[in-house]
Amino acid sequence: MTSRRVLLYHPGQAEAYARLVRAPRRAISLDVCSTPAEAAARMADTEILYAWKFPSHLLARASRLRWIQAMGAGVEEFFVPDLPPRVIVTRATGMFGAWMAEYTLGWCTWVTQRMEAFREAQHERRWRALDPEPLHGRTLAIVGLGDIGRQIARAGAALGMRVIGVSRSGRPQRGLAAVYRPSSLARALRQADFAVSVLPLTEETRGLIGEAELRAMKPTAWLLNIGRGAVIQEPALVRALGEKWIAGGILDVFDTEPLPPDHPLWALPNVVITPHIAGPSVPAEIAPVFNANLRRYLAGQRLRFVVDRARGY
Ligand code: GLV
Repeated sequence: MTSRRVLLYHPGQAEAYARLVRAPRRAISLDVCSTPAEAAARMADTEILYAWKFPSHLLARASRLRWIQAMGAGVEEFFVPDLPPRVIVTRATGMFGAWMAEYTLGWCTWVTQRMEAFREAQHERRWRALDPEPLHGRTLAIVGLGDIGRQIARAGAALGMRVIGVSRSGRPQRGLAAVYRPSSLARALRQADFAVSVLPLTEETRGLIGEAELRAMKPTAWLLNIGRGAVIQEPALVRALGEKWIAGGILDVFDTEPLPPDHPLWALPNVVITPHIAGPSVPAEIAPVFNANLRRYLAGQRLRFVVDRARGY
């Protein structure tokens, strides 16, 4: 058996991922890289790429590449013009919904339980009798109803929220009071007390939420973005938050990451900024997906979680 060359790439945790790779003896040879220079030197021989934050300009040199397994859910970084059409891209799925549901409901609760106000009062040794607000009975609008969005929907419903959503098909889903198509996005946002975008970045979703959509929201509503920054038009978002078209934003993703120090979002008091951690890739959670797909690849079987290139997710 000729061994297949696998290039494992991760800027910070390459070794942790490498320790969890399982393959029959001599079936693969594993190149573990954490810098673009190391990857560049091996690219021409690579058949399988298992990667996170990969320098995508190197894909132009990937003449033997057949399969890319992403270590995350989003794969837009791989869909560059240089990606040869024969290359199959698979994404990691199944492990992010739980994390992102905790993030979403956790931060919704941070708002309604007035956690910041009580902590501030405590620092001042002040007994501040404020009532919390409810999440139950409030409307949570989830924009993007893939496996992550559906898990957030279940968590919201478990807390008694009225959950609505937006999906490509607009098909009704169990547990959701209403599902809208993207063309009715503003209708969904208009009802939301909390709206969360979980959308991947594709040609269709780029800039989907702009001034009209943000102006449709209630002035008391909070917007969370945990999908991709560029889905929301950032200048419109900055205005919406600064001019209080909406009450506040919980933002994990941005047009440019890391968010530049001089970015106006940092200074807005009604904004929470987290550094793209809502759905973390944890080596022990990602490894089983890669190992199972690698077994399939080596056996000549169809891979799981293949990305539809035309749709971009
Ligand atoms: C994180 O953003 C991911 O794509 O998994």
